[in-house]
Amino acid sequence: MRKLKAAISSINAYAPDYILTNQELETMVDTSDEWITTRTGIKERHILKGNGLGTSYLGVKAVNGLLKKSGTSPDEIDLLICATVTPDMQFPATANIICDKTGIKNAFSFDLNAACSGFIYSLITASKYIESGVYKKIIVVGADKMSSIVNYTDRQTCVIFGDAGGAVLLEPTYEDVGFIDYILRSDGSGRVHLHQKAGGSVKPASHESVDEKQHFVYQEGQAVFKFAVTNMADISVEIMNRNNMKSEDIAWLVPHQANLRIIEATARRMGLEKDKVMINIQKYGNTTNGTIPLLLWEWENQLKKGDNLIVSAFGGGFTWGTIYVKWAYDS
Ligand code: UT7
Repeated sequence: MRKLKAAISSINAYAPDYILTNQELETMVDTSDEWITTRTGIKERHILKGNGLGTSYLGVKAVNGLLKKSGTSPDEIDLLICATVTPDMQFPATANIICDKTGIKNAFSFDLNAACSGFIYSLITASKYIESGVYKKIIVVGADKMSSIVNYTDRQTCVIFGDAGGAVLLEPTYEDVGFIDYILRSDGSGRVHLHQKAGGSVKPASHESVDEKQHFVYQEGQAVFKFAVTNMADISVEIMNRNNMKSEDIAWLVPHQANLRIIEATARRMGLEKDKVMINIQKYGNTTNGTIPLLLWEWENQLKKGDNLIVSAFGGGFTWGTIYVKWAYDS
C-alpha cells in the first residue's frame, strides 16, 4: 500500500535590511574581522531595527511571502508551528500572533522551543499531523530575533548571532518524496553550557537580573563546540548508514549554521565534498531557528525533485537531530 507522507511544497524566508559587519563589530568590542572569520566563518549578519518589532515581524514577512508564492489562501492553513527561542512575549505564542497578522483564522497554532534544533523538531512534528491524514496544509516557521537577547558588550557571543526567519508549507503526498527518516535527540544536562539565566520562572526579571546582564545568551563556546562536532556528525552518519546511503547518493547537506568549522567537520565525516554543502553563515551568522529555512530558500532554484537532502542541527538543551528528506519539486 502506498504510504502517506509529508513533503515541503514551498518555501520563503526573510532577513531584515540592516547589515552588521565584522568591521562595525570591531568598533563595538575587542575583536577583529580576522578572528571572527577564521573561528566562525561569519562576515556579516542581519539585524532587525525598529521599536516594537519582534520575532513575529520576521515570521509574518516569511509567511505572507509563502502564501503568495504558493497561491495558498490563509483560510486553507490547518496548523502553524513557530520554532523560536525569542518569542514576542512569554505568552501568547508567537505562532498565534503570526496567524493573526497573516489572516490565518482556521488553524490552531503553537510555538516549539528546542533552541537551534527547533526548526527540525517542528518539521517532524508537523509531518506527523500530515501523516495522520487529518491535516492537509501546515506552515512551519523558524524565526529568531537573536539581537534581542545578545549582549553587544560580550565579544564571545555578539559576533555569532543574527536575525532572520523562514517558513515552509507542508502538504501530503503519496509519491516517493518528502520526509523519509529522522533522528531527534535531547540531553538536558547540557543546559549548563548554553542558556539564558533570567526571565523564566526560576529567576523572574528583577533589577538585579538586569544589572547582572542575565537576560542575554550565556554560552561556554568550547563545550558547545565539542558536543556539536561529535553529535551532529554522528547522527548524520547514522541516518546515512541506516538508509544504505553513500556520500554519492546525497545531493545536499543542509546543516545548521553555527560555525563553519562544525559544518566542515560534519561534511568530512559524511565523506561529502564542499560543493554538496549548503553554507551561507558568512552572510547571516547563526540565526538559530532561521538557519535551515534560509538555506533551503537560497538554494531552492538548484534543488530537483528526488534530490536526497540530509538536514542536521544541534543547539541549546542540548538538542540535536537530523532528517532525511527527498526534495518534492523542481523549482
Ligand atoms: O547554535 C547554537 C550552538 N552554539 C554553537 O554551536 C557555538 C559553538 N562554539 C563555537 O562556535 C566556538 O566555540 C566560538 C566561535 C564560540 C568560540 O571559538 P573558539 O575557537 O572556541 O574560541 P575560545 O572560546 O576558545 O576562545 C579563544 C580565545 C580566547 O582568548 P584567550 O583566552 O585564548 O586569550 C577568547 O577570549 O579567543 C578569545 N575570543 C575572542 N577574540 C577576539 C573570544 N571571542 C573573541 C572575539 N574576538 N569575538
